Amino acid sequence: MWEKYVEAGSVPEIIRDRGKLSPRYIPEELPHRESQIEALKSLYMGSLEKPTRPFLQICQVIGPVGTGKTASCIRFGSAFEAESKRRGIDLSHVYVNLKIHGASRQILYGHIAGKVAQRLYSRGLGANELLYGMLRYLDREHKFLLITLDEIDYYVRHVRDQVIYDLTRLNEAYSDGALNVFGIVFTARSTEFHGQLERAELSTLGRTFMEFPAYTSTQLFDILQHRAQEALNRGAYTDEILEYIADVTASPPVNGDVRYALDLLLFSGNLAEGRGHDAIMPEDVRRVHGETYPHVTSEDIANLPEEERVALMGVVRALQIARDPYVTLKNIREMYKVVCEGLGEKPSKEVEALVQDLHDRGIIEIRKLTKIGMTGAPAQELDKFLSNLMDRVRGTYP
Ligand SMILES: Nc1ncnc2c1ncn2[C@@H]1O[C@H](COP(=O)(O)OP(=O)(O)OP(=O)(O)O)[C@@H](O)[C@H]1O
Ligand SMILES: [Mg+2]
Repeated sequence: MWEKYVEAGSVPEIIRDRGKLSPRYIPEELPHRESQIEALKSLYMGSLEKPTRPFLQICQVIGPVGTGKTASCIRFGSAFEAESKRRGIDLSHVYVNLKIHGASRQILYGHIAGKVAQRLYSRGLGANELLYGMLRYLDREHKFLLITLDEIDYYVRHVRDQVIYDLTRLNEAYSDGALNVFGIVFTARSTEFHGQLERAELSTLGRTFMEFPAYTSTQLFDILQHRAQEALNRGAYTDEILEYIADVTASPPVNGDVRYALDLLLFSGNLAEGRGHDAIMPEDVRRVHGETYPHVTSEDIANLPEEERVALMGVVRALQIARDPYVTLKNIREMYKVVCEGLGEKPSKEVEALVQDLHDRGIIEIRKLTKIGMTGAPAQELDKFLSNLMDRVRGTYP
């Protein structure tokens, strides 16, 4: 009995469950988002009363980076599925991250159709066939759907096709039978993308939205407390540590992105563990905060397709060598080839498109093709941010 404790206690452990600090993990409870989740429920609950006459309800969830939009939509979706099941309605919530599954209209509809039923997806089918095939299937099988399209602003910026037009007019366009789609929730960081839409799209999308304001320092503290309880050993942190993380996260340039707070907690924990300590010290957080480039979070990196990840390494290397806050596309092209060689990968011919995608994701800034840099990185601190970012892209940061 005792031996077990001696053995387990021989290496100091701060983080009990790393997964609970990962950006992919969504806790059961989301403090300070209860009212938004309730509002979503009440918006869609009416459809469950009359499932035979569903009404396509469109909703926009708008809020700055890291304000719990994705987490809340996913939690709401599961709660709505459960409530439907309780009422004997066969409803699924299909969640789509457009940064991952939104390369084109056909890929998007194929992805949604495949989630509804594997056999609805086939490579050879066009976008309309996939979409309408799925709607006919839902009608025939008495199944219902709620769709969340996450990061529609990225999609509009990057792909610019008629997805919003198609989906907000499903009730007009689908006349073969009953439309079994209760609604579509779109999320975006701001309403700026409205400016890029056609009038016909904006008129069916509407201008009203549900707001997710940036978290304040006290709210971030509550969130961190919940997450720390799940992820860390009890004696491994203090309220002061969490308050400090909450304060720096609520202040510029981070402005409340909860993901930065979770990254800080995880990296500080890793650092303290690496030093052989059994608790996080303020200097661990200070050091990590001083090095972490706030505009690119772990999730941004995790969501990057492989080619973009390598291209980002090319951009970072080019900036490191130039010792200047900006480089040219030509510099990037050259460094990108070097990085590919180092990794033993075949360079893509579409470097410009990859660089453009990094820009559309908000990671890099393109002033012109001869002036490309990192978004919001202060020139005097660029160097340390770059090496930290490189370590994170490679997956070697503490
Ligand atoms: N209220 C909360 N309580 C606990 N964890 C939260 C809360 N809000 C967000 N999180 C966590 O923070 C991380 C980021 O949240 P989320 O992905 O929902 O942000 P977002 O608003 O969608 O950001 P983005 O605009 O970048 O897509 C996730 O790990 C999520 O689980
Ligand atoms: Mg999100």
